[in-house]
Amino acid sequence: MKGHAWWQTGIIYQIYPRSFQDSDGDGVGDLAGIMRRLDYIEWLGVDAVWLSPIYASPMADFGYDVSDYRSIHPLFGTMDDFDVLLDAVHEKGLKLVLDLVPNHTSDRHPWFIDARSSRDHPKRDWYLWHDPRPDGGPPNNWRSVFGGPAWTFHEETGQYYYHAFLKEQPDLNWRNAEVREAILDVMRFWLDKGVDGFRIDVLWHLIKDARYRNNPPNPDYDPDDLPYNELLPTFSTDQPGVHDIVERMRAVSEDYEDRVLIGEIYLPIHKLVVYYGEDGGGVHLPFNFQLITLPWDAEEIDAMVSEYEGALPPHGWPNWVLGNHDQPRIATRVGDEQARVAGMLLLTLRGTPTIYYGDEIGMRDVDVPPQRVQDPQARNLGRKLGRDPARTPMQWDDSDGAGFTTATPWLPLSGDYQRRNVRAQKDAPDSMLSFYRALISLRARTPALVIGDYEPVELGIEHVMAYERLLEAERLLVVLNFARAPSTPHMPGLRGRILLSTHLEREDEIVDETIRLAAHEGLIIALDEEAAPARS
Ligand code: GLC
Ligand code: MG
Repeated sequence: MKGHAWWQTGIIYQIYPRSFQDSDGDGVGDLAGIMRRLDYIEWLGVDAVWLSPIYASPMADFGYDVSDYRSIHPLFGTMDDFDVLLDAVHEKGLKLVLDLVPNHTSDRHPWFIDARSSRDHPKRDWYLWHDPRPDGGPPNNWRSVFGGPAWTFHEETGQYYYHAFLKEQPDLNWRNAEVREAILDVMRFWLDKGVDGFRIDVLWHLIKDARYRNNPPNPDYDPDDLPYNELLPTFSTDQPGVHDIVERMRAVSEDYEDRVLIGEIYLPIHKLVVYYGEDGGGVHLPFNFQLITLPWDAEEIDAMVSEYEGALPPHGWPNWVLGNHDQPRIATRVGDEQARVAGMLLLTLRGTPTIYYGDEIGMRDVDVPPQRVQDPQARNLGRKLGRDPARTPMQWDDSDGAGFTTATPWLPLSGDYQRRNVRAQKDAPDSMLSFYRALISLRARTPALVIGDYEPVELGIEHVMAYERLLEAERLLVVLNFARAPSTPHMPGLRGRILLSTHLEREDEIVDETIRLAAHEGLIIALDEEAAPARS
């Protein structure tokens, strides 16, 4: 598909390295393990792999607390292992995207150790220090996402430092020019090695209000949600100054060929699209989490897709995400059957899809018993708010360690892994994996699905969403039944041929005005050229 970059036409596959494949029998996934599974990734048909952090880290937040941006944590392997993996990925024509964690370091990073050593240390200003209030309390009411105040008092130097996450994750001061240069240099280090880009952690957090004003209360707070959300992060995130930094990051990536920057940004659509930058000088893909944050409802999703399509700047390429290492898994959210509809939606909307490892076999959240809890968010706020359930080991086969490890895995395996695993699903023509593979392969050979226009189709039937993807003479109709009941939408003038059903086995069936949809069924239909169903 000429004229489009790989990150526009390709599919991204997120690997949580601790949980993909263990190669050295320590119960934790590693780079050599990923290496061993590259054939699988290629076979699946995805185009790029994004790895959650693999850098040196005390693992207070499982790698999102970096103590050396230029080295590989020994748990995952060595820099040689990394170089070998990068080469192998490229040899297969795939891309490798790393996680960049610029908002905060580990409290054991030498920068922070220097910064806290004295108020006069030149690195002091690399972090966000503030005097106590007259009563000794923290400078303002900002909260940590992981619970409690976002300020921790440092006795020895008599000031508080700011941390949006754990106290072991002090926030860097991005208004400091040396900090900016240091992290841009980290980017260059990996780009020089040949990595194809970065997913940038909590990009919308980088700049905070210079006056540290108090955050206002959130009138819509849901008590089941994180206590962090009791306040609106009006002054602690998404500050205007962040876009200047995003532009600098983009400028670094532009010194190299064909690299991508993907921003982790949880914001409503109108604020999210600003991260594309003026004239496209921002990140290539501000992660769009709408399919995660909205309820699973055809009408709401349909409206959201139109809003998003309408809000994109002229140069903005869309993207879609169903799950990641911080969110409940899609199969748990919507059920096994509806998870196929979700997969079809993810891979047929206009824009770059990201698949979270294991979703292609319908992995579910695993109930992690209290004594095995790992996630700091769960330790601080209770298991219900923990992220371990979506981070459990990949289920490769029905052997003792699920083909993931020969040891005790760092998080428990799912109780259903003996049935739900790659080996079993590979051979089952109607499995989730067979469905994903058929869908990915159909997408790859159907340019309209990859780069075609998006046109909503108004069927007027509850719980059914429909849209067309159009490219020159090629016209595809996608019809998705979000409901537990069958549905038979009627479209005068419609004629076409089924290319794929979530239920498989309906290929080549002719559709003539009436579409027969089973419960939880999604269809991709190639429309006859002369057929003209009503568009909204
Ligand atoms: C991002 C990561 C999450 C991490 C947090 C702090 O949201 O995805 O896993 O805990 O940032 O770095
Ligand atoms: Mg290991």
